[in-house]
Amino acid sequence: MNAKIAGIGFFVPERIVTNEELTKLMDTTSEWIVERTGIEERRYVEKHKETTSTLAAEAAKIAIERAGLTTQDIDFIVFATLSPDYYFPGSGVLLQRHLGIKGIGCLDVRTQCTGFIYAISVADQYIKTGMYKNILVVGAEVHSAGLDFTTRGRNVSVIFGDGAGAVVLQATEDETKGILTTNLHADGEYAEHLAFFNPGTHGGAFLKDQGGLDYPNEPDLGGMHLTQEMLDKEAIYPHMNGRYVFKHAVEKFPAAIEEACEAVGCTADDINMLIPHQANLRITQMIQLKFGFEDERVYNNIQKYGNTTAASIPIALCEAWEKGLIKDGDLVCLAAFGSGFTWGAAMIRW
Ligand code: COA
Repeated sequence: MNAKIAGIGFFVPERIVTNEELTKLMDTTSEWIVERTGIEERRYVEKHKETTSTLAAEAAKIAIERAGLTTQDIDFIVFATLSPDYYFPGSGVLLQRHLGIKGIGCLDVRTQCTGFIYAISVADQYIKTGMYKNILVVGAEVHSAGLDFTTRGRNVSVIFGDGAGAVVLQATEDETKGILTTNLHADGEYAEHLAFFNPGTHGGAFLKDQGGLDYPNEPDLGGMHLTQEMLDKEAIYPHMNGRYVFKHAVEKFPAAIEEACEAVGCTADDINMLIPHQANLRITQMIQLKFGFEDERVYNNIQKYGNTTAASIPIALCEAWEKGLIKDGDLVCLAAFGSGFTWGAAMIRW
């Protein structure tokens, strides 16, 4: 049994936030953002009216309809996000509630930018073993709720945006179609280079003793309740060592793509479309250069949506497919790198 993508959809909030708008909140320029990241604008939710799971539900409904199914045909949900509606329970059960499907299992995946690759890999295994036939796999994020919109947070805040993408993975007896391989990797040594520390059970100094890296402004903070000290030290925002992330990303993306090629016995030349996680246009351009891909064989939409973490691959995949850039029989490679560090790739015969 193989798992094919039977339906795909994406949903982004209506509100467009341009680089120019961010310059009113922090010391940055549109030129800086475009030059370093390629991003021109991103979408933000309407605060307290749209959440991670409501964006996911909109994307999921489109994917389910395009698969020719109803919500009642879905056997299982895999939900990838780093920005859940609640600390717990995970957003999977909230999506299940929005869709009105009672009783089916919901699994939340927490591997950040590589979340969608991990999620489809898990779903693929359930389908291969015959446990489920139609699995809804979603990546969704609401970053705008957690960013630091002052100059202090500018290196992170200009990059990220909100959105959701979904696929229905369906069992097929056609072994030439669908997900051919996935590879998943992580190296926790670098966990603190791109992280959101609080609330958490860590206690900064303790984790440092355990091999974690030091991080700015909050060495002794940590706890499940936000404290006045955390607020005073502004230890409530994501932290990113941008250069370090960049350096590792340009090594690990190609390694994951090469591994996927090897697993299916092809070369990068055989890939019709590469859908990279939309981390940074400069990272993607370096990957493109390394493999010698023509522009038509790499899909980028970070210019419009920013980095939407677990949602970025399904959004880009869906948009490329809607534009007719992915056709039946095409070899499509998905690849990602992100916080953890985590990285991985998937090869799909469309
Ligand atoms: N606007 C203007 N200046 C900014 C800025 C912004 N939004 N963000 C940072 N800067 C400044 C810094 O303060 C620094 O100033 P200084 O030299 O006076 O200290 C200068 O720009 C260079 O900062 P640095 O962080 O070294 O820039 P960079 O060239 O590495 O670019 C990133 C920053 C974040 C764009 C880049 O590191 C990057 O893209 N990294 C990968 C991030 C990523 O992909 N994350 C997601 C992974 S899934």
